[in-house]
This record gives sequence, C-alpha cells and structure tokens, in this order.
Amino acid sequence: MKILVTGGAGFIGSNFVRMLAAERTTWKVVVLDKLTYAGRLENIEDLTVRPGFRFVMGDICDPAAVAGAMEGCDAVVNFAAETHVDRSIEEASSFVRTDVEGVRVLLEEFRKGDRLLFLQVSTDEVYGSVETGYSRETDSLCPRSPYSASKAGGELLAMSYHYTYGTPVIVTRASNNYGPFQYPEKLIPLFITNALDGLQLPLYGDGLNRRDWLFVEDHCKAILAVLEQSPGGSVYNIGGGFEKSNLEVTRAVLDSVGAGPELIRFIEDRPGHDRRYALDIGRITGETSWKPETDFRRGMEITVEWYRTHRKWWEGIKSGEFGEYYRRMYRDRLARSRGVPQE
Ligand code: NAD
Ligand code: DAU
Repeated sequence: MKILVTGGAGFIGSNFVRMLAAERTTWKVVVLDKLTYAGRLENIEDLTVRPGFRFVMGDICDPAAVAGAMEGCDAVVNFAAETHVDRSIEEASSFVRTDVEGVRVLLEEFRKGDRLLFLQVSTDEVYGSVETGYSRETDSLCPRSPYSASKAGGELLAMSYHYTYGTPVIVTRASNNYGPFQYPEKLIPLFITNALDGLQLPLYGDGLNRRDWLFVEDHCKAILAVLEQSPGGSVYNIGGGFEKSNLEVTRAVLDSVGAGPELIRFIEDRPGHDRRYALDIGRITGETSWKPETDFRRGMEITVEWYRTHRKWWEGIKSGEFGEYYRRMYRDRLARSRGVPQE
C-alpha cells in the first residue's frame, strides 16, 4: 500500500503518520503539506528519514504539486485544511480555497489513476448546533461558521465525485480532538499552556457550550479502520463519547495542572457560537472493529504530560505569529472579562 497523507505535518495528520510508521511498517507514506502556520515539519522530522517515507512541501490547491505527490499512490487521506473557527470568522477566503478548492484539485488527480480509496476528513460541525439528541450520518447539514461551511463544501464535493464518476470516496466526521501536537490556538492546548504559565483562561460566553471529546489516537485508529474495512461510498461519524461543557473541560485542565479557578475569565462570546455537537457513532462501531478506547481523564493525563514535557515546542509557537494573533483576539475581550464568582 502506498498512501498520500495531506496535512500530515499538522496535529491529527502527524499523529496519523506516526501511527502508520508504528503499525503499518510495510506501507509507503507520502506527506504533502504546505506548512502553514499550523503545520510544523518538526512534528514528523524523525519519520522523514525512514525508508518508504517522503515529505513534499506543497499546496493541495496546486495541481502540479498534487500530481507529483500522488504518483503511484493507492489511497489518499486528506487532512489538509484551514481548521480554526475563530480565524474563519476573521477571514474566510483561505478556508474556501483550501477546504473546498483544494479538495477538488485532489479529487481530479485521484480519478486519473486506478486507485483504491479517497478519504475526506470532515467534522461534526457540518451538522450545525444540535441542542438535543445525537447527529446521524443521514441528518441534513446546517453548517453555521465559514469553517464548517467550507468543510461541508469539501465533503459534499467528494461525495459528488463518488456519485458522478464512481470515485471510491469515504467521508469521516469527527468530534473535537485533543492530544499531543495540537496547535495552542484550540481550547485544550491553549488552556493547558496558559495554566502552566499562570495565565488567564478565556472562556467564551457562559462557558456552557458542549463538545464531544475524542482522543487523537482514537481518531487515527478510526480512520485506519475505515480505510481498511469499509467498501467506500459512505459517511462515518467518529466520536469519543465524552460530552462536556467548556467549563467542565476548563476545570479538568486546572485540576491536571494544579492551578486554581481564579485563572478562569468569562469573555465576550464567539459570533454564531454553536451550542452543542453530539454524534451517534453506531454506524462505524457496527461496520468496523473500531470503538473509542481512551477515557477523557486518561487522555487529559497524557495530553497535559506531553505539554509539560514539550515546553520548547509550544513556547516557540506562542512567541511567534501566535503572539500577535492572541493579542488581536483576546486582549480587549480579557480587559472586559469577569471571573468566577467567589464561593
Ligand atoms: P491542523 O490545523 O493542526 O493541521 C492542518 C494541516 O494542513 C497543517 O499541517 C497545514 O500546514 C496543512 N495545510 C493547510 N492548508 C494546506 C494546503 N492548502 N495544502 C497543503 N497543506 C495544507 O488541523 P487538524 O486539527 O490536525 O485537523 C486535520 C483535519 O481534521 C482537518 O481537515 C480538520 O477539518 C479535521 N478535523 C479536525 C478536528 C479537530 O478537533 N482538530 C475534528 C474533526 C475534524
Ligand atoms: O468539532 C470538531 C471541530 O473541533 C473541528 O472541526 C475544528 O477543526 C476544531 O478547531 C474544533 O472546533 P471548535 O470550535 O469546537 O474548537 P475550539 O478549540 O476552537 O473550541 C472548543 C470550544 O471552546 C468552543 O465551544 C469554543 C470554546 N473556546 C475556545 C477557545 C479557543 C473558548 O471558550 N475559549 C477559547 O479561547
């Protein structure tokens, strides 16, 4: 098997290729990554020297780069995307470009060859806010941010190639991932690294928005299970089964780091903030051997320990582009924030 993993220098992609290197030792792996602010070669540098592993720096919107990277590949897993909701609210064009047009370029190249499977990594955010119950793959989509609308465009395009050209496509919709190598703009790594430094934790709105949390290794195993066990032409939800409010997650971070609730600050909400996501994972657990294995407490222990022992990794990020982003995004809101009422 020769597999192209796009976005393999990002958070989930780097965990996925690391898992392949350990568990599918005969596979040849090509990583295509543009190395945007979120992609870091250091995430996979130890792997790039292995036989059968190739790193290509390039853009999934560039047909020549895609053709070169996909040459001889049997399967493609597309992780490459702009991924942060808050950034999509500031500027949507890079999201539409990579998350929709990039998918089209990949699909066009894919269908020129005789290949096995194109797996488009999508998100539970395409369902929109789900106040009660659990989203199923057959539910209608109602994306409500520029990020989720772009991801919905990308996955719909992928399935359209399946129906129109018979392209073997799978779409996966995962819930919120956490774990090692996550860029510290996202809730859990931002709050862990801030708490380790005694900095404030900026919770949006009332802190009661709810997410389903999935340990990144479980997500990677689910993708591998679907790749190897599904015939294609299907959509699969992938969830961890740990639904929590953001306040509960924040308290778990504070406990693990050993910091107190005085760090919590309630700040002005994200515009259009989806209240809740929740997934029914009956299809993937029924059709494959996969089920989530890591409970939230254990996943958080592993994650906090990783950030504790990889301070150089995140300090390097936080002192660069991210510092400017953080000031722009949080400074004024933190100045107007309020803390947790004293008990
Ligand atoms: P990430 O932001 O950490 O990494 C994205 C990677 O894609 C980076 O390495 C970046 O350099 C690369 N990239 C961006 N634009 C590119 C382009 N035009 N060409 C080539 N490479 C490009 O993202 P992540 O959190 O690892 O997410 C990976 C995928 O999983 C995304 O498709 C995302 O939508 C999806 N997803 C993420 C989560 C989550 O909780 N993080 C949950 C569900 C689905
Ligand atoms: O649900 C899957 C999605 O999860 C993925 O498709 C996205 O790529 C990924 O970024 C993530 O999106 P969210 O918007 O849910 O993740 P984020 O970490 O940005 O926020 C999680 C929750 O925490 C959300 O309710 C907003 C809140 N939040 C986030 C940040 C960064 C805060 O309260 N404060 C913050 O500073």
